[in-house]
Amino acid sequence: MYVCFCAAVTDVEVRACAMAGDRSVDAVGERCEAGAGCGGCREHIAALLAATRPTEEWQELRRTA
Ligand code: FES
Repeated sequence: MYVCFCAAVTDVEVRACAMAGDRSVDAVGERCEAGAGCGGCREHIAALLAATRPTEEWQELRRTA
């Protein structure tokens, strides 16, 4: 499902940004341009970031991979 229509970015892409370490809407915007247009999706991006925080265990696995 599209989250950002201006940049044609989906929820899957925003979740991937979160799993890659992005912790703010601006960081997601820098990575994939979501939220960098009209701004109408920024609240939805923030909600996805809050719901998609990688666990400490996952972060440790990623660091050691
Ligand atoms: S819908 Fe995301 S910046 Fe416009």
